[in-house]
Amino acid sequence: MSKKNIFSKIPNQGKTIFAIMSELAQQHQAIDLSRGFPDFNTHQELMDLYCSFIQKGYNQYAPVDGLMSLRERIAEMTQSLYQAEYLPDSEITITGGATEALFTAITAFVREGDEVLIFEPAYDSYSPAVKLNGGIPAFIEMPRPNYSFDWESLQRAITGNTRMIILNNPHNPTGAVMSAWDVEKLSKIVKGTNILLLSDEVYEHVVFDGASHESLALYPKLKDRTVIVNSFGKTFHVTGWRIGYVLAPKELMNEFRKIHQFLMYTVNTPVQYAFEEFLKTPHPFQQIKEMYQRKRDILVKGLEGTKFKVSPSKGTYFQCVDYAAISDEKDFEFASRLIRENNVASIPTSYFYKAKNDNKVIRFCFAKQDETLYKALEQLSKI
Ligand SMILES: Cc1ncc(COP(=O)(O)O)c(C=O)c1O
Repeated sequence: MSKKNIFSKIPNQGKTIFAIMSELAQQHQAIDLSRGFPDFNTHQELMDLYCSFIQKGYNQYAPVDGLMSLRERIAEMTQSLYQAEYLPDSEITITGGATEALFTAITAFVREGDEVLIFEPAYDSYSPAVKLNGGIPAFIEMPRPNYSFDWESLQRAITGNTRMIILNNPHNPTGAVMSAWDVEKLSKIVKGTNILLLSDEVYEHVVFDGASHESLALYPKLKDRTVIVNSFGKTFHVTGWRIGYVLAPKELMNEFRKIHQFLMYTVNTPVQYAFEEFLKTPHPFQQIKEMYQRKRDILVKGLEGTKFKVSPSKGTYFQCVDYAAISDEKDFEFASRLIRENNVASIPTSYFYKAKNDNKVIRFCFAKQDETLYKALEQLSKI
């Protein structure tokens, strides 16, 4: 077939920057602070459970919406964390990570010509999913250097065609965290409209300096218009296991499941059994927060003595740093040179903007062993 007949549905979409930078990091055997995954293991008990369920023969398709007993565990967990009731049979679905959940939710609700509002810089899977469904992404820039959620601009961006607002709290890559005041602003904006909220909360347990996570599950008034996306991969340091879940009221979940059944069909069975067993004991989520706070502090303190400018991340396991005092190279060039010459991999943040804004900012992931962070800091302090 002639190449001319392969019509790309997203012609301007390249390979994700996460793959590009981590391939480059591997080539140069660099200390990899680029992609968002831990370089340490999950709980031994969870790994043992996964292996044991494989050995016991739990290796065939699970129920399409996920194992009911796991959904019950999630309902209990959500009740205890956010005092929110989601019914296991009709309001909770197990997904193939947050990535599948986001794509499914966007496919279920975004129609041709619908506008979807996204704060940027933005995690890179939202916009392609909107476009593939015929939707139109519109971006609201988060003002630097504090990267707040700009509600006035969001309000101005709303039109009669606005179908959905995608929220990511805590926010990748900026580390911004929504406060109760932010949610209040959001509530006022959507009141009386038919706008849906897609709330990506995969870093729900990673907020710092005494702040608490304002899950939209905490807000009953927003519940009937909100789809919440969570990731066991992120929470339990097993991003390769590809498991997450979605919370949504029955009417929205009904539509979500119509797509999920064909996109994913079912999610890894022994992993679901492992989590079901593991979560029988309430998890000490506070420990996750404390661990990442310590790691953020190691990175921020270590960077204080360098020419990088840092405003401490408020949540997630990412830290944005400004390198304008070191170089005026474009961020991709600077990040590539950092790998080649200084052996440290990062992500250039221009890839989180539609217009590839070059703010001279790169993102480091600090979900790494302390030793990895100290090695990276040793390299960075030589610059
Ligand atoms: C904001 C955000 N949402 C979703 C995902 C994807 O999560 P998962 O690995 O569960 O698909 C990521 C991964 O980095 C992320 O940063």
